[in-house]
Amino acid sequence: MLYFEKLGTDSKNVCVFLHAFPLDREMWQPQVEALKEKMQVILIDLPGFGKSLPIKNLSMEFMASEVIRTLDSLKIEKAIFVGLSMGGYVIFNLYRLFPQRVSAMVLCDTTPASDSEERKSMRFELIEQIKSQGVEVLAQQMLPNLVSKHTALNNTLLMEWLRQKFLNVNPEAAVSALKAMADRKDHTEWISNINVPTLLIFGEEDKVTNIEMAEKMNSVIANSSLVRIANAGHYSNLENPEGFNSALIGFIERHFPNDK
Ligand code: MLT
Repeated sequence: MLYFEKLGTDSKNVCVFLHAFPLDREMWQPQVEALKEKMQVILIDLPGFGKSLPIKNLSMEFMASEVIRTLDSLKIEKAIFVGLSMGGYVIFNLYRLFPQRVSAMVLCDTTPASDSEERKSMRFELIEQIKSQGVEVLAQQMLPNLVSKHTALNNTLLMEWLRQKFLNVNPEAAVSALKAMADRKDHTEWISNINVPTLLIFGEEDKVTNIEMAEKMNSVIANSSLVRIANAGHYSNLENPEGFNSALIGFIERHFPNDK
């Protein structure tokens, strides 16, 4: 069973947040603050991250079904799913496998594409380095490329918080998730099947995913809109929480008005 936190206020609208690699549910703190008076918020730790136990043979499909099992235990039938990067990969699978459980999606700094052969071999190299040198390599190799120039120069608090998260990750969990991401299915063609309201949020300086892919998704998904977040890289919700929250709240109020 996955570790989760149920926060916010009783409401028929429920927002479920799925975190990026190698972070955990705590990355959504700025969004909890913005939403907690308005709706129910569920933060989930994916297998091996935060307080959830690691699992050896992990896949995006398994993560998606574990998320659904968690919602079953809470008797939540339908939710708005918000996922950033790896959290987004899980949401593509979740919507493909359990479409009736999704009332809307917020896909942040993510991609429906599977890994290129080059990216796969980078992941397997990283796995070998984690095994020989420990998770410090994640902070050294990944972190500098993830944030915007603005964040790197001006937000030492966030940089240090991210560094600590990267350094404290369970190596077994990191390896399992890297393998699961390398093996994930391609959803590039499949996204034309999405028929729930969808918000795409992308940091303008995200180098992991890119704005061209975001525009492609926006043109293919029927009921979608795209918001670009200024001064943000891959972690748009943490680097510019005001911009991110205003896009998120605007989307929820537009599609699920006067809920309480
Ligand atoms: C993430 O932020 O979840 C990762 O960067 C995703 C990835 O490595 O593909």
